[in-house]
Amino acid sequence: MYLRDCAVCHGARAGGTPSGPSLRGVGAASVDYWVSTGRMPLSSPHETPRRHKPKYKPALEHALVQYVARLGGGGPAIPDVVVTPALVPPGGVQYRLNCAACHSWAGTGGALLHVQAPPLKPATPTQIAEAVRTGPGNMPAFGRAALTPKQLNGVVAYVRYLDHPVDRGGNPLWYLGPFAEGAVIWILGIGVVLLVIRVIGTRS
Ligand code: HEC
Ligand code: HEC
Repeated sequence: MYLRDCAVCHGARAGGTPSGPSLRGVGAASVDYWVSTGRMPLSSPHETPRRHKPKYKPALEHALVQYVARLGGGGPAIPDVVVTPALVPPGGVQYRLNCAACHSWAGTGGALLHVQAPPLKPATPTQIAEAVRTGPGNMPAFGRAALTPKQLNGVVAYVRYLDHPVDRGGNPLWYLGPFAEGAVIWILGIGVVLLVIRVIGTRS
């Protein structure tokens, strides 16, 4: 399967070609992330990798990942993710510190200078952990010194919590963030002031 679907761009021994980078030493986590999110195989080297329906069934995908990981050796293994509710609050702290700048505080993704960060909702817990450890595309990789395995579990728990957050502050205003909240206050506030002026003002 590797020779049929991947070697044309990545080389028969995964050493890379002008159409695709070397896969030696990228690690099972990276291969699993790119294949399980349907970003690979690309249909042409000029296509931008995007999330698609995965091309392979899980068992076949697992075999492919093991094969590619062994061609190079090294690199991060697929992380074991264990998520418990108690990890959500510390995970939120790490998320706001490390991820919110690009993926937005609600995980809806966003555009930042030249970096387009995707929404996190479609990613499985394993894919979240793989993305964090391997840093796909323009995302930085976070090693164990930046996020311990426990902190990584917390980040994953928090990203999943964001699917159904508890909105203690009232109406979340479509999770658009502080700008929307500011705009609502501004429009409502100025509106009320104008109304009051209309009521108490006199025309001469
Ligand atoms: C048409 C060419 C093409 C084909 C076919 C292709 N790839 Fe890729 N692959 C690329 C390119 C180009 C990139 C770099 C993408 C980027 O960084 O935006 C890439 C990146 C990757 C990466 C990330 C490497 C890294 O440095 O982290 C992995 C892993 C990968 N491909 C695996 C595969 C596997 C497995 C297959 C077969 C199922 C496959 N690719 C098929 C062109 C291809
Ligand atoms: C500098 C901006 C930046 C930061 C910081 C960042 N990311 Fe990303 N992230 C990206 C970009 C860009 C991509 C898209 C990568 C690609 O081309 O596939 C991405 C992809 C992802 C994906 C894959 C989503 C999918 O489509 O499957 C996940 C999950 C993810 N990031 C989680 C995180 C988490 C968790 C953190 C914090 C620990 C984080 N990211 C920090 C920019 C960032």
